[in-house]
Amino acid sequence: MKTIIGIAGSIRAGSFNAALLRAAAEMAPAGCTVEIASIKEIPLYNGDLEASDGIPEAVARLKDRIADADGLLLVTPEYNNSVPGVLKNAIDWLSRPAADIPRVFGDKPVAIMGATPGTGATRLAQAAWLPVFRTLGAKVWFGGILYVPGARKVFDGSGNLVDEAIRERLQRYMAGFVASIAD
Ligand code: FNR
Repeated sequence: MKTIIGIAGSIRAGSFNAALLRAAAEMAPAGCTVEIASIKEIPLYNGDLEASDGIPEAVARLKDRIADADGLLLVTPEYNNSVPGVLKNAIDWLSRPAADIPRVFGDKPVAIMGATPGTGATRLAQAAWLPVFRTLGAKVWFGGILYVPGARKVFDGSGNLVDEAIRERLQRYMAGFVASIAD
């Protein structure tokens, strides 16, 4: 059984990206589980806090979960044509201390997707994550692409993915990502 840790980069209750992550978890192929992790409890990064108290419990737990997982699925909103601060903050904490980066991120298969009510489909946010994961030594998967524009029509009021074309693309994307991870 392969395990993927899924992180949505929005802590909003009605988040389209959290909804996309839930759909991805439901559509994971046989032999794979997507465990949804939250970044809600992660504080703002502060070097003073790190020096005085060390790594916060929520960060340490998530680091271990990523380290133990076969892959990481990042579902990212786009803010001002780039990455959202709450998710960047979480990844920054997860990269501390730097000596632990190889254990957590080294050669880790990472898939990136995202949803927006706008038309740009999170293309720029997804691209903006690439230098971050290159820096962390992760292995970003380029075998598929999933951009979700027009999210208000793609999800219903309860956050269910109701667009058949996107459902099919998501299923193919998840199958491709999981198949790319060595047994
Ligand atoms: C946005 N939004 C947005 N959308 C987009 O497609 N490109 C962008 O550059 C931005 N920029 C942006 C900046 C800020 C500060 C906010 C608050 C929002 C809209 C964004 O896609 C929308 O709020 C999504 O609903 C956020 O994702 P969740 O919370 O639904 O997952």
